[in-house]
Amino acid sequence: MFAVLESVRETCLGLVESLPVAEGRTFVVEGERIAVFRGRDGSVYAVQAQCPHQGGPLAEGVTGGCTVTCPLHSWKFDLASGACLNDPEHRLRTYPVRLAEGLVYVSLDGGG
Ligand code: FES
Repeated sequence: MFAVLESVRETCLGLVESLPVAEGRTFVVEGERIAVFRGRDGSVYAVQAQCPHQGGPLAEGVTGGCTVTCPLHSWKFDLASGACLNDPEHRLRTYPVRLAEGLVYVSLDGGG
């Protein structure tokens, strides 16, 4: 279920409940692949889907708290800030997420 809200350029990714807890899922939004994670505390994060190291699929990584560990070479990233905890010269692009009435909305604008 996708719906683009023109005025704020948000895309609805569907129900929060459809996201597995403590796992990632990849979506394609406006042609861009993003990885979306739902934490055990209910937080939802959206970041670029490919690891900046060698393109590992971050949605398949291991999550813990607010971090994801890339499945290829184990670089760890903070999902909120995008910071790489192994090498400060690398970071993930992050995207604003809004939760409303049980739905997840992501915006490609204003990401960091
Ligand atoms: S591709 Fe992600 S750590 Fe190497």
